[in-house]
Amino acid sequence: MAEARRIDGKAVAAQIVERVKAETARLKREADVVPGLAVLIVGEDPASQVYVGSKAKMAAECGFRSEKFTLPADTSEATLLDRIAALNADPAIHGILVQLPLPKQIDEAKVIEAIDANKDVDGFHLVNVGRLSTGARGAGFVPCTPAGSMLLIRSILGDDLSGKTAVVVGRSNIVGKPMAQLLLAANATVTIAHSRTRDLAGVCRGADILVAAVGRPEMITGDFVKDGAVVIDVGINRIAAPEKGEGKTRLVGDVAYASAAQKAAAITPVPGGVGPMTIAMLMANTLVSACRAAGLEPPRF
Ligand code: GUN
Repeated sequence: MAEARRIDGKAVAAQIVERVKAETARLKREADVVPGLAVLIVGEDPASQVYVGSKAKMAAECGFRSEKFTLPADTSEATLLDRIAALNADPAIHGILVQLPLPKQIDEAKVIEAIDANKDVDGFHLVNVGRLSTGARGAGFVPCTPAGSMLLIRSILGDDLSGKTAVVVGRSNIVGKPMAQLLLAANATVTIAHSRTRDLAGVCRGADILVAAVGRPEMITGDFVKDGAVVIDVGINRIAAPEKGEGKTRLVGDVAYASAAQKAAAITPVPGGVGPMTIAMLMANTLVSACRAAGLEPPRF
């Protein structure tokens, strides 16, 4: 096989962000509404701080009202729930995102359910999970990473995946399960595989579409990839890079890019693949929420 096509998530994400900016300007002009996004983080985990900082910065670039709340690591559950209740009641806020994971003293499920489902731009609330799995997506929100991954798949294979087999490796609520629902909704035949799957490589080799969301650096090698498959790498792992100098690190995905690219027809790189799409879809979800709140037909992404 020839070397795979590299799917440029950065470029696709930039196009989405441009559309969000244009639609945000139109919403302001026509309805005098400015989308508002509140991002909350509890504690100082450096990777989470970087993600949250990028989300808040991109929201401001899109022309949104962007509010970032950094709460100390020992914040109580009650304090966080109070803050969420205030944001639920604030008509200037259309999207609320609580960065996960949360410290141990806080019940994550309780926090997610406390967010108004109509402001849950992460798509984690049970109501939005239910809307996605029943196909009632019109009113809900789809989690950003799977939504962005799906746009990349559609950019290669089109909207209808009838007759295609898809394997999602990973069964998290944030990526694996919603990803499987989206592929199913697009008519793919879907398998969810995970660490307990027997002959994982063999299962993956059956996939026309292979989505890796396991959180294990470069675990999915070329041996897992069918000739001509579309490979989507959701992993972001920081590993030691002694070749760059002592103490240096680099980012790699869950897929061993070089070997997988020998087999795949198209593959996302890390960085520059799914990562930028996640933030772009968060902006899209926030804009959609603001349009709904204003009683206007939201754009489709
Ligand atoms: N932690 C890792 N990914 C995500 C995400 O998409 N949203 C939130 N809120 N937390 C995360």
